[in-house]
Amino acid sequence: MPYICEIRKKLNEIKEKDEVIILAIETSCDETSAAVVKNGRAVLSNIIASQIELHRHYGGVVPEIASRKHVEAVNPVIDEAMREAGIGFDRLDGIGVTYGPGLVGALLVGLSTAKALAYALSLPLVGVDHIEGHISANYISHPNLEPPFLCLVVSGGHTHLVWVKDYGDYEVVGMTRDDAAGEAFDKVARVLGLAYPGGPSIDLISKKGNAQAIQFPRAYIDEDHFDFSFSGLKTAVINYLHNLKQRNETYKIEDVAASFQQAVVDVLVDKTIKAAEKTGLSRIAVAGGVAANSALRQCMTIRTREHGFELFYPQLVYCTDNAAMIGCAAYYKLIHGKIDDLFLNVEPSFSKIVADRRQY
Ligand code: KG4
Ligand code: ZN
Repeated sequence: MPYICEIRKKLNEIKEKDEVIILAIETSCDETSAAVVKNGRAVLSNIIASQIELHRHYGGVVPEIASRKHVEAVNPVIDEAMREAGIGFDRLDGIGVTYGPGLVGALLVGLSTAKALAYALSLPLVGVDHIEGHISANYISHPNLEPPFLCLVVSGGHTHLVWVKDYGDYEVVGMTRDDAAGEAFDKVARVLGLAYPGGPSIDLISKKGNAQAIQFPRAYIDEDHFDFSFSGLKTAVINYLHNLKQRNETYKIEDVAASFQQAVVDVLVDKTIKAAEKTGLSRIAVAGGVAANSALRQCMTIRTREHGFELFYPQLVYCTDNAAMIGCAAYYKLIHGKIDDLFLNVEPSFSKIVADRRQY
């Protein structure tokens, strides 16, 4: 039977099924990950091959090296995910994959693999927006969480405040106008001579520092929109260090890190609370690599409690890039018949969620 006819048949069968199982693949940056997810919420396996050690040597992700490593890792990682889930390929109902945004070469490895599997196994292909994947990580950690809620997506490539109206229905109410929050962490860590990735390094060292030692700028904090800006903060840290150096003065790296981190956290938390108030939402979720930050978690917990919001976080493993979150997002698309054909291409710098943004 031609592929397209097989897929129509599969979509009809899925409507009747109690168990819908998806193999998901994520290769948008420097983690090669494959996961098997049942009914969108139960993670049967989630294998992550991280390239962090490799890129650490260069102080950041080298795109060409990332692509090559994905090529080497993707098949073994998929095999491992299937083995750990304890199922055969014949039990799968669909293939989910990140198609963007991310590094073009890295995305191509995952998408080509997903297309090959979908065609060979006659399974529906579901392309997932990486940002939607991060948001969906919360469904895994909180089985009872349902839309609507407000989600702060903070990672190395994204800083977005997203009004999650329903599964697959999003409205961006605010976003960064320059650097992403994680990018700021990584760049400031580099200036301070801390190891890549900078977020976890700054998080750790800040625990020994005074977060009030230096008053770094909090961009847009008093403005009534929900956009962010972190490049000025990064420059402020660089200038601060430069001035001290010129005067031959020393500084406590712990204090600089903690003060920088506090400036990021203050803006993220403040804007999130204001956006939740404006949209009238009572639940707030946080997602993405920076959602692992301990100061952000602590401050967000205190402030949301003060304002009477319910707060949700993914477990740490689902904050940074992983395929389980992609499998979750793919499930809700698949059961609503939102699948892709085999002409799907990568979208390195385009996100439909962001493109649909209305000015708030
Ligand atoms: O979600 P993710 O794995 O990849 C992207 O989609 O970008 O996020 C990676 C980012 C990096 O910038 C990293 O420094 C940051 O998340 N990150 C953290 C922490 N853990 C990871 N930032 C602050 N504190 C952390 N504990
Ligand atoms: Zn990510």
